[in-house]
Amino acid sequence: MLQVKKASAAIGAYVSGFSLKDALDDGAAVGQLRESLLEHQVLFLRDQPLAPQELQAVASRLGPLFDHPAYPRAPGAEHVHILESTPDKPTKIEAWHSDMTFSATPPNFTLLHGQIIPECGGDTLWTSALAAYEALSEPLKGMLNGLTAVHDFRYGFRESLTEPGGEERLAAAVAANPPVHHPVVRTHPETGKKALYVNPLFTVRIKELSALESQRILALLHEHLTTAEFTTRLTWTPETLAIWDNRSTQHKPINDYFPQHRKLHRVTTAGERPR
Ligand SMILES: [Fe+2]
Repeated sequence: MLQVKKASAAIGAYVSGFSLKDALDDGAAVGQLRESLLEHQVLFLRDQPLAPQELQAVASRLGPLFDHPAYPRAPGAEHVHILESTPDKPTKIEAWHSDMTFSATPPNFTLLHGQIIPECGGDTLWTSALAAYEALSEPLKGMLNGLTAVHDFRYGFRESLTEPGGEERLAAAVAANPPVHHPVVRTHPETGKKALYVNPLFTVRIKELSALESQRILALLHEHLTTAEFTTRLTWTPETLAIWDNRSTQHKPINDYFPQHRKLHRVTTAGERPR
């Protein structure tokens, strides 16, 4: 029996009493999980031993799979991406973001599965972009509705692009992902709720504003989005699975574990064009 315990008032829930491996072919259980996901925006499931192929199978119950252009894949599971940070190759992603908003159709859901977890540090934060939108004043909501923002792969991966060999390694990804426009306020296609949809990793500017206005309004929105009361925080253990809805949340990996080794498996499901 699936048990759900909220992690904070605004976002997140721990799901227990549930083995994903056993529930793979249980339509009712998967339906219940999806319903909880839409309600709580991010779910945490402890002790879920899942081989890459099984993780991929779980993700495919939530929708068709979608690949990231810049990460290596797990052997034998072509849609499972490896996120790994080592002393030689530490992770570079530190900013708050929603996954792959540089895409015209960013993924709906992300599943992240703990493999190698540092002794200390390496938590992940999530924030509710629904709670953030709701807490804005009516005049500001009115101004933001109808604005569009530019999101760019190059902007998010600028550090990787400037390292030796980076331009060559990422040339195909850059060519396949020209800048895209998304609404600043996104309406969730399944719940009808509105969310703030700009993030400091990929959002370059708000198109309809002057450069200075865009810079200052984005800074205000990014600060507001990460208000502590809209967030929750997960301390990873091996075989913990986090599943979140990218349409209504943002997340931030905390890079406080260098030079320890950290490795996660990730799968994303295909999304629609944000509206
Ligand atoms: Fe991410």
